[in-house]
Amino acid sequence: MSTAQSTPEKKVTTNTVQEMKRRGEKISMLTAYDYTMAKMVDAAGIDIILVGDSASNVMAGHETTLPITLDQMIYHASSVVRAVKRALVVVDLPFGSYQGDSKQALNSAIRIMKESGAHAVKLEGGVEIIDSIKRILSAGIPVMGHLGLTPQSIYKFGTYTVRAREEAEAAKLYEDALLLEQTGCFSIVLEKIPSELGKKVARAVKIPIIGIGAGPDVDGQVLVTHDMLGMTYQFHPRFLRRYLNLYQEITNAISQYVVDVKSGDFPNEHERY
Ligand code: KIV
Repeated sequence: MSTAQSTPEKKVTTNTVQEMKRRGEKISMLTAYDYTMAKMVDAAGIDIILVGDSASNVMAGHETTLPITLDQMIYHASSVVRAVKRALVVVDLPFGSYQGDSKQALNSAIRIMKESGAHAVKLEGGVEIIDSIKRILSAGIPVMGHLGLTPQSIYKFGTYTVRAREEAEAAKLYEDALLLEQTGCFSIVLEKIPSELGKKVARAVKIPIIGIGAGPDVDGQVLVTHDMLGMTYQFHPRFLRRYLNLYQEITNAISQYVVDVKSGDFPNEHERY
């Protein structure tokens, strides 16, 4: 079948993904928050695993990404790092762990790197958080930026709709992307913006642009693994391609287990000592 399974286990680094952009090779990125899922995602040959603060929604059932804490992110990231042999592991700095000032941002990033063993951190925002990004970079910690629909600002936006359709917001996003590159970010996620803007930014910078709802003309794509596997079902953005319907498959399997236990069919003569 696919050749992804036979990908050699040479570790992906921030240099690797920058080299991939130079070669014109697309970069694949997915989320993981736990050991078992990270093992499968890594074995399948993904380039970057994001321990996203979407764990707040997916793992904890919160409505937004705001409640997840730094300690919880470190717990998720440590579990992922223990599973991963090849992928680059990037961890979101959660809401409230970097917006205070650059010292707070650096301390949070250092805790993530020290306590989880991850390889890089991701922060949401542009010029507003540039001092924090500079300080984290000055400690030798690679930083991935995140522009466009930045879910930690959902109460400012008021809605999860497409961002940067208006000229002023698009111009700011473009300038922010140039600034993040110039400051030293190794890559940027662009979330839910017009495809033309995604293309314009990807062409303007040398660092890889990873899109989620940013069209095909960026350097790579990221999705939330639980969404693309159909483990979640309430969420239907246009950018989401579902590869499985695991919600249905898993509930069917569990219903069958309930039937088997109640009927006495499980365990059978081969499933006992
Ligand atoms: O937290 C997350 O999963 C993310 C991706 C959607 C890019 O930031």
